[in-house]
Amino acid sequence: MISNEIIEEIKKKSDIVDVISSYIPLTKKGRNYFGLCPFHDDHSPSMSVSKEKGIYTCFVCGAKGNAISFVMDYENVSYIEAIKILADKLGIALNINTNYKKEDNHDNLYEIYDFSNKFYQNNLNTSSGHDAREYLKNRGITDDIIKEFKIGLALSYDKSLTKLLIQKGYKEQDLVDIGLTNKGDYGYQDLFINRIMFPLWNIEGKIIGYSGRIYRGEDTSKYINTKETIIFKKGLNLYNYHRARNFVRSSGNIIIMEGFMDVIRAYSVGVKNVVATMGTALTHEQASLVKKLSNNVILCFDGDKAGNKATFACGNELVNIGINPKVVRLEGNLDPDEYIIKYGVNKFQEKLSNCTSFLDFKLNYYKEGKNLNNNEDLTSYINEIILEVKNIDDEILRELTLKKISEEINISLDTLMAKLYSEINKDIEILKQNAYNSEEIAENNQYNEQFTYEYHPRKRENTFKKKTNVTNKYKKAEREILYYMLTQKEMTYKYEKTLPNFPTKICRFLVHEIMYFVKKYDTISISDFLNYLDSKTELVNLVGEILNSNDNEKYSIEEIPDCINVLKEYNLKNEINRLNELLKNEKDLERQVELANKIMSLKMGVEDDERNQNIR
Ligand code: CTP
Ligand code: MN
Repeated sequence: MISNEIIEEIKKKSDIVDVISSYIPLTKKGRNYFGLCPFHDDHSPSMSVSKEKGIYTCFVCGAKGNAISFVMDYENVSYIEAIKILADKLGIALNINTNYKKEDNHDNLYEIYDFSNKFYQNNLNTSSGHDAREYLKNRGITDDIIKEFKIGLALSYDKSLTKLLIQKGYKEQDLVDIGLTNKGDYGYQDLFINRIMFPLWNIEGKIIGYSGRIYRGEDTSKYINTKETIIFKKGLNLYNYHRARNFVRSSGNIIIMEGFMDVIRAYSVGVKNVVATMGTALTHEQASLVKKLSNNVILCFDGDKAGNKATFACGNELVNIGINPKVVRLEGNLDPDEYIIKYGVNKFQEKLSNCTSFLDFKLNYYKEGKNLNNNEDLTSYINEIILEVKNIDDEILRELTLKKISEEINISLDTLMAKLYSEINKDIEILKQNAYNSEEIAENNQYNEQFTYEYHPRKRENTFKKKTNVTNKYKKAEREILYYMLTQKEMTYKYEKTLPNFPTKICRFLVHEIMYFVKKYDTISISDFLNYLDSKTELVNLVGEILNSNDNEKYSIEEIPDCINVLKEYNLKNEINRLNELLKNEKDLERQVELANKIMSLKMGVEDDERNQNIR
């Protein structure tokens, strides 16, 4: 359990210059220290570190924060992990109680997998492994690669893995459940037979499954993969992620391929910042895993039509989480493995450094299979293109793109522009309609968030901007209350019954979680609470943000009743607005009077509150 006192101690004792210079060299210039910023591709030192203020700022990319946020961003770790790292650097012992830690008690399953892997690796070296070894050799898979990627072999004879595991005391059904064993007509037998075994790892580097490949030209499925099991969740892992993560920082980007053979090849020739989706669509979770390592993503899928389609789908999934990927297309229908073998790693590296933007890829993608001399095809092409162009943020890029297309398909720029504006206008109508309908936006408006629309036909620009007044009093009140709830369990007990509704949804959730946790465990140890929140990333981040904010110094526990009043006032005003809306639409006279009275009395409540606040 990491107590809040210890966290405070760690914060206080962590000298930002010491912390940062343990990662990157800093030089003193005047009062501040300077170094190459690790958060962008920096060539002259643009990160300044202030010892007195305990903060760092990059003049170029805008990265800034304190010792904790530096460690979080540099090491790609959570708030609590960063605290642990800092404690370690300071030699502060953390007495961590992992009671509430979500238990991953699958150790015995990982053990089985480790054992099976040793078994398969060993098979490859026996005389029965001759053909498999030849196969690998012919594909240029050296002994070093075999070792690094722990490649093995499942044989066909009956001194099987299943038998051995049962002898070791494992239960048949468990072996079936984790995907190593089949229950057939003749009892339990190995699921993988006669296949070269490629272990699959989870993101922590534990073997959780296999992909087994045929190697004698048999006429069956090329690969057999472990089915989804309690430890093997295909959509939550990426092949080679645990190795690649160590190389993403130095290379500054991450490459996604389709096949694990492609990854093995690229890795073995020195392109190590690479992962594979293993032939399925990229899930949202996988996209998030990628984003955790880098926002610079290169899609390098197979050169064939399927690879083209996959690039499109995968790229869109990345765009959905705010990544604008780059694309490499390999000619001649080759996959990266074949390409590297045919042209060598230098040519492959060249391809990587000359990748195209996802936009350019898409513009080509839409052309495929269309005959642009045919009016129907041309129209559908233009429609697709316009939707893409509409999404381009940069005004100049938008115009340049349209210009290029206009020349290419021989349609005037004006016509394309007109089409673009008609699409934009449709959006405006929809947004207006939604804004009108949506209670959420009404609530946001209350909460000082407004959608403003800027549209300058002459400048050919249109944007919807969400203006948020981040320093508004409601937000401050929410955060201040949450700060004390997170640091003093008594807060929760004291105000449990009287806390008003919190304006922001995420804060409302956090309040509920804190109350639940405090009541259940009678403590609000931050580390345990974060462990308890576990995968609720948004909440975990919010906790980190609140505890880590510089505003904390301005808080005072005496202000809590005021904060509560501020939120009450918010709720009252909200309710008044709601009733006003009802009143506007009410036809029945009696109901109108009733509503008007209600509104009056609520308004008096607001005035009372405001008066009270002034007196205090
Ligand atoms: N895949 C699969 N089952 C198949 C074919 C493919 O599970 N029958 C998955 C594998 O994980 C493979 C990925 O899809 O890594 C990409 O497929 P493909 O491009 O066909 O595989 P390659 O990487 O080219 O494999 P190889 O070079 O061994 O043929
Ligand atoms: Mn291949």
